[in-house]
Amino acid sequence: MFALPSPVVDIPKNQKKIALSRNQADPERLVSAGRADDDDAFELKLRPTRLAEFIGQEKIKEQLAIALQAAKSRGEALDHVLLFGPPGLGKTTLATIIANELGVGFQQTSGPALQIQGDLTAILTNIRERQVLFLDEIHRLQAVLEEKLYTALEDYKLDIMIGTGPSARTHVMEIRPFTFVAATTRPGLLSSPLRSRFGILLRLEFYTEDELRFVVERSAEVMGVPIDHDGAAEIAMRSRGTPRIANRLLRRVRDFAQVRANGIIDLPTAQAALTMLEVDAHGFDELDRRLLRTIIEKYDGGPVGLNTLAAALAEEQDALEEVYEPFLIQIGFLDRTPRGRVATRLAYDHLGIEMPRKNSLF
Ligand SMILES: Nc1ncnc2c1ncn2[C@@H]1O[C@H](COP(=O)(O)OP(=O)(O)OP(=O)(O)O)[C@@H](O)[C@H]1O
Ligand SMILES: [Mg+2]
Repeated sequence: MFALPSPVVDIPKNQKKIALSRNQADPERLVSAGRADDDDAFELKLRPTRLAEFIGQEKIKEQLAIALQAAKSRGEALDHVLLFGPPGLGKTTLATIIANELGVGFQQTSGPALQIQGDLTAILTNIRERQVLFLDEIHRLQAVLEEKLYTALEDYKLDIMIGTGPSARTHVMEIRPFTFVAATTRPGLLSSPLRSRFGILLRLEFYTEDELRFVVERSAEVMGVPIDHDGAAEIAMRSRGTPRIANRLLRRVRDFAQVRANGIIDLPTAQAALTMLEVDAHGFDELDRRLLRTIIEKYDGGPVGLNTLAAALAEEQDALEEVYEPFLIQIGFLDRTPRGRVATRLAYDHLGIEMPRKNSLF
């Protein structure tokens, strides 16, 4: 016989730290979609817990609602789910909602937090019937662990090595049926065998201004902050299509309203606060402007390779690609071409720089 690993109920604190250390916002940067250190407590409070409270992403909600209802009525575990899209759009939130809607347990870990095979084995062998296991940043999972996951996801079986050296042998262990929910900002980095293990693939999109206004109004209500329609709309407009940024701006505007105004967030208060915070009408801050200006002034509008651009800005390549660029591309200020990044006409216009003829195709 072999000894079962001790039950893993929660992820140790130091592992959580590793999990959070990647994909984090520059703490100085108000409009970064990545997590900042002081976001966690607030996000927990503001996080919707049921599908009906989750604003926007209608296609995803419909698909999920059907899958959830079908799984529940069959009394089976829900198919494995892959959530992907830029940071701050609600992947972790949806993972917790899935567990709540199914009425099952929720356990969370992440690609960078899982360092050794034993950790994954311990988690899988202690899984409870039909629970949700959430793996954040799955693109950062080590290849050996990824392979170990395959049989667990497909047949709820696990190969376990017993003993060492010449007498070592593998034992196939049954694990309880469960739902694996994984999230990534970089779906392109997943291998196709891994991708094929997911029955439900959900891609989160940037939110419209109307949807973000609802997010702001809902959060203001939870926080007990008085806000009017136009005040909420102004915050929504400058939130880069991202609920995490909308919530962060709301907190800062609330402070301003309390100290400099009568505590109520209306249009003039929201505008004055956001101007003071140097968040412009598109939700751009100094880094966005510097990025666009660098492409235009240093590289003639592009194309410029990502690594060259990252070096010129003294920023990490991953952060540029995962956190900063997606929104600039979405709203048409930046183009990603095979030869590199290109600033578009909108970027020139926004910065008040005349576009040279050679680039006027973009
Ligand atoms: N649809 C939504 N409705 C209301 N609030 C939302 C919604 N989506 C996200 N939020 C809010 O935005 C915050 C950030 O969302 P979440 O942590 O789920 O993003 P994420 O996609 O997991 O980001 P990351 O890629 O950085 O892990 C949540 O705490 C929640 O308050
Ligand atoms: Mg998350």
